[in-house]
Amino acid sequence: MKFVNLKPIIYVGLVLLFLTSCGENKSTQNNPVEKSINDLLSKMTLEEKIGQMNQLTGLGLSDEMQYNVREGRVGSILNELEPTVINELQRLAVEESRLGIPLIFARDVIHGFKTIFPIPLGQAASWNPSVVEDGARVAAIEAAAAGIRWTFAPMIDVSRDPRWGRIAESLGEDPYLTSVLGAAMIKGFQGEDLSAPNSMAACAKHFAGYGASESGKDYNTTWIPELQLRELYLPPFIAAAEAGAATFMCSFNDINGVPSSGNPYLNKTILRDEWKYDGLLVSDWGSIEQMIPHGVCADLKEAAELAANAYVDMDMMGFAYINYLKELVESGAVSEKIVDDAVRNILRLKHRLGLFENPYVEVLDEMPFYTESSLQKAKQAAVESAVLLKNDGNVLPLGSKVKTVAVVGPLADAQADQVGTWCFDAEPEHSVTPLTAIRNEYGKKVNVIAEKGLVYSRDKDKKGIERAVNAAKRSDVVLFFAGEESVLSGEARSRADISLPGAQSEMLTALKATGKPVVLVIMAGRPLTIEKEVKEADAVLYAFHGGTMAGPALADLIFGKAIPSGKLPVTIPRMVGQIPVYYAHKNTGRPGANVDLIDDIPVGTLQTSIGFTSYHLDAGTTPLFSFGYGLSYTNFDYSDVKLSKNTISRGETLNVECTVKNTGKYDAAEVVQFYMRDKVAKLARPVRELKGFEKIHLKAGESKTVKFSLTEDDLAYWNEDMVKRAEPGEFEVWVSPNSQTGKAVSFYLK
Ligand code: NOJ
Repeated sequence: MKFVNLKPIIYVGLVLLFLTSCGENKSTQNNPVEKSINDLLSKMTLEEKIGQMNQLTGLGLSDEMQYNVREGRVGSILNELEPTVINELQRLAVEESRLGIPLIFARDVIHGFKTIFPIPLGQAASWNPSVVEDGARVAAIEAAAAGIRWTFAPMIDVSRDPRWGRIAESLGEDPYLTSVLGAAMIKGFQGEDLSAPNSMAACAKHFAGYGASESGKDYNTTWIPELQLRELYLPPFIAAAEAGAATFMCSFNDINGVPSSGNPYLNKTILRDEWKYDGLLVSDWGSIEQMIPHGVCADLKEAAELAANAYVDMDMMGFAYINYLKELVESGAVSEKIVDDAVRNILRLKHRLGLFENPYVEVLDEMPFYTESSLQKAKQAAVESAVLLKNDGNVLPLGSKVKTVAVVGPLADAQADQVGTWCFDAEPEHSVTPLTAIRNEYGKKVNVIAEKGLVYSRDKDKKGIERAVNAAKRSDVVLFFAGEESVLSGEARSRADISLPGAQSEMLTALKATGKPVVLVIMAGRPLTIEKEVKEADAVLYAFHGGTMAGPALADLIFGKAIPSGKLPVTIPRMVGQIPVYYAHKNTGRPGANVDLIDDIPVGTLQTSIGFTSYHLDAGTTPLFSFGYGLSYTNFDYSDVKLSKNTISRGETLNVECTVKNTGKYDAAEVVQFYMRDKVAKLARPVRELKGFEKIHLKAGESKTVKFSLTEDDLAYWNEDMVKRAEPGEFEVWVSPNSQTGKAVSFYLK
């Protein structure tokens, strides 16, 4: 047996203890909240501390829950929705538990509580931070009135795989767009003052890399080099921390073999030490326990040890901490300092929410649900979320010659499906469908013939198609509302085939065969591979799942009362085999060109390797629609881009401007996008990176000059030494209506 001289270790330990306590004293002595947290902590038993770290799902006022609350064995309850029950549980916590620490009530309020806004991916298509902020504000007002003070949103996982069902909950494929819109959502949930009774703590999730799950299968493995983690997946989380997100949530996936709930590098080194984050980190549901099937822990006790030592503050429904943390601390496997820090983070959140002063929810006679203003905001969000992908012959907006419209398709009148995934509390009877809105708002202008054709999106029974075709024959225009049922996207709703489900594609072909113009409106939770359908339809409006007010929004867009202004927050592939396909790809040594498609290769052609480039024989070089794409009923003209300088030095800012003119006949909004490319760098850089955007409103004939800027930090990237640095040389910028067009202008960094 080897003996270790403990003296130096004890010495270093004492010095560290001294330094740590000095640090704590310094930061807490002038801060009354930190002082009161420490006072409370000093009175807590180890069991009570661990109780705070335990989050349970609601069981009403069951004996078990009452016992847990009275004994201080639970710090937060999720999924409890009845205000009187919430107040009674809170009373037990505040009046009958030994230390009277209030509970936090939590719920997944993702894109609305009662008034449902478009799915987050749809909101992202608005490229409008105030639309996103409004959605979160309305959700907070409604949910907080029911006693919910903590929501598990925004989901800011950068998502480049439309097979992944959770892409619906994301803000798309780009880290910059996700950062800006994620911060807007946090602002909306948390309001001006987190302690106000109508504010909810936001939760930046899932930390981290969840969007990279293999083959888009939920909960799956990810392999993410640190450079990519820092460049692609972490920026929205830094933005969330800077925006004051009160909490973070661990992701289910492992990164390079390490599940996030057991990853101290992510949760401590990056989150706490680098970013100085002082909010609460909660596990995902059972994600601590799931480190057993991941194969990194033998049992729940090991999982508790790994998670606690990975600085996960709260165990959501994993029962690991409540069962094992005490003995782990007593045995020295987990230090009490880790537990204390976790409890500090939890108590800090309770302070920030004002729960110590005001623990109860006011039980209202009339809940602030579905107010006129909330419904208007939800409608505006749905208007701005729809992306016009095609409009041959200006079929849209429908003109005065259209006397009869056929409203067909499984999504035309599907109240539950149009709200999309992740709205546990939605009441479908409040959804206004396209059919209802067209009848109510435009029924005096046009005759409406309604015929679903297919009952639901997966319906393969073609009997009804015939009736829809007959309706089409009797109409001037066909409005085909197609897509996915809400249950086909969201958590655990990954698809390997992301084409239009059921017999919808055949129905479109049959409708088109009538010779009538067909407007295809897609209501879905993800980009779908609809190349054939886009070719067939005369106009295509991609509306995602638009929420409670999707119908009135779409009706206004179709009849021209509203003008489309959405732009894709994510690339739409032609076919699944192209995935991952995204705009910010690298150029490669042989960028796609000289495309020779599979059917163009003469039979008997010999194999060579000369002159070949990077593309798919059957899909070519491009996706169906790229990031940032979206048409309007009007046209916009972009003038030449002007730069403040041709060369900048380190520390200088480059100013860029471009004048955009509405040259068409409709007043409309345009999302002006600003991209950059680092032409030559030590590490190959993307062909374009989004660095700014602005949604502007232009009357017909009006022009506006839009200004952007780039600082040295904007030019910098994470290099192989894990340092973010800008390299001198040539850069290019574009101010353009999407990620593919516009004229590149060069400048240099000295
Ligand atoms: C699991 C999901 O991954 C997470 O996003 C959600 O917030 C929790 N369940 C709680 O419902």
